[in-house]
Amino acid sequence: MAHTPAETLATIRRLFLDRGHAEYGGEAVSQLQHALQAAHLARQSGAEPSLIAAALLHDIGHLLHDLPEDAAEQGIDDHHEGLAGRWLAQHFGPAVVDPVRLHVAAKRYLCAVEPSYRDQLSPPSQLSLQLQGGPMSAEEVERFRASPHHEAAVSLRRWDDEAKDPNASVPDFDTYLPVLEAALISADAPRADP
Ligand SMILES: [Fe+2]
Ligand SMILES: [Fe+2]
Repeated sequence: MAHTPAETLATIRRLFLDRGHAEYGGEAVSQLQHALQAAHLARQSGAEPSLIAAALLHDIGHLLHDLPEDAAEQGIDDHHEGLAGRWLAQHFGPAVVDPVRLHVAAKRYLCAVEPSYRDQLSPPSQLSLQLQGGPMSAEEVERFRASPHHEAAVSLRRWDDEAKDPNASVPDFDTYLPVLEAALISADAPRADP
């Protein structure tokens, strides 16, 4: 890609600041608040910078399409995780891209392996689960566990589920510019093996 890291950062920042005020799929927070809360939870958990970046960016797919905010209520799966994965792969490595790409799969996985997990999902998340294929089959669970970044995707999923607090006060978007920049640089200019 011809984009410099600075241009990519500016594009991402603009997407969140210009489009992030849309409601987050029927929840009480905006897309931007949801992203910031997810990133904050990742940071508080001591996650690697690449996973903090993934938490911040996990729903960027919602900002890249023009489907209605209540798509799920209309019975539409927006496939935002695939859209995000393809877009982010132009700029970041697998440690950022894969947990994002797998964050919906991680929900389907947790519903299959943790019986109590499904009950604590918010109503909009329960609704989208149906459109996304419901809990994983045993075969899908096995395939999911074979993905190198599946554990990171599960961690991201738990922050995602928690990042819906209308009263939370968390650091702003620019707090994460260094984290994003570091993740971009490591993807764009991989160091040669010693
Ligand atoms: Fe999502
Ligand atoms: Fe999310």
